[in-house]
Amino acid sequence: MTTPTPTTMNFISINKLTNTRVLLIGGTSGIGFAVARAALEHGASIILSSSKLEKVQSAISRLQQLYPDPSFTSRITGRAYDLSDQSTLETTIISLLDYATSPSIFPTTTTTTTHGNNEKVLLNHIIYTSGTRPSRIPISPTTTNLTPQLYTQSETLRVLAPLMLGKHAKSYMVDEHTSSMTFTSGVLASKPVPGTTLGAMAGSALGGLVRGLAVELEPIRANVVAPGAVETEIFDELGVQEKEAVKEMFRRGTVLGRVAEAGDVAEAYVWCMKDGFGWDVTESVYCKSSLNYSIRYMNSADA
Ligand SMILES: NC(=O)c1ccc[n+]([C@@H]2O[C@H](COP(=O)([O-])OP(=O)(O)OC[C@H]3O[C@@H](n4cnc5c(N)ncnc54)[C@H](OP(=O)(O)O)[C@@H]3O)[C@@H](O)[C@H]2O)c1
Repeated sequence: MTTPTPTTMNFISINKLTNTRVLLIGGTSGIGFAVARAALEHGASIILSSSKLEKVQSAISRLQQLYPDPSFTSRITGRAYDLSDQSTLETTIISLLDYATSPSIFPTTTTTTTHGNNEKVLLNHIIYTSGTRPSRIPISPTTTNLTPQLYTQSETLRVLAPLMLGKHAKSYMVDEHTSSMTFTSGVLASKPVPGTTLGAMAGSALGGLVRGLAVELEPIRANVVAPGAVETEIFDELGVQEKEAVKEMFRRGTVLGRVAEAGDVAEAYVWCMKDGFGWDVTESVYCKSSLNYSIRYMNSADA
């Protein structure tokens, strides 16, 4: 009897990202980097992007070291695009999407689509994890930096960039139910603690945006993952002692007595890419004091 090989087995799960093109905005560290690894392992060609060139280069080299076989290294690329400037945001997003759909960025590209005068390889998935650690801004008359401008500025990366991506998605993505966009909010959006109201506003606005995108972009799916505390480079700026104290606080708040790693929450993004349908809202409760992460998970009928 011949043993079935991976090519002859009727796999229903692990090949869903094979030969897909996945753009990971914020894929150079933390959660996005873990999703990039998972997508690569599932057979996708991945495009990493974030604001700093050196971070993009470092992420690409780390991936090349982790997965040295040419069958992996030939599927990794990336380029820096800074999405923090509102005045150039839309043109930057268009440049990033043009780059990510360019036929020449991977050595073996077969399928191209002509769109206007340009040849493109349309994207199958966009994962968006760009963000910076929000500062604590108490709602108080003495908080002098709490201004309308501060809120608008804090929205750029968290809400306006996703909005512009949604605006241009139909020109750059395969228009099928197998395609998806997954954005990132946080548990503080639904369970703020004092000082995190601006973050809660941005997270809730993103939730509303994604519900709208799910009905406007169908059959392309739109989801948002809202992680709780995940140990990533986002806490590096705190310094060793404060980072340890913060981690201990998070650890005490969880049922499992551990802080999530990026590889844990990466599974939620993989799920959003691979599942071609969508329910209403699924929430995974991992913490005593708050949700560890919830996934707004919807199809157009439920949004
Ligand atoms: N870790 C947590 O506990 C946690 C919990 C809830 C929600 N979140 C949210 O999840 C997202 C990812 O968090 P993380 O922990 O993975 O953080 P991270 O490791 O710091 O990753 C953030 C990513 O965003 C990119 N980025 C920052 N500014 C950018 C800009 N102006 N334009 C484009 N990209 C930019 C960063 O690269 P560059 O520096 O090169 O730009 C990096 O790739 C963030 O929005 C965060 O707020 C995190």
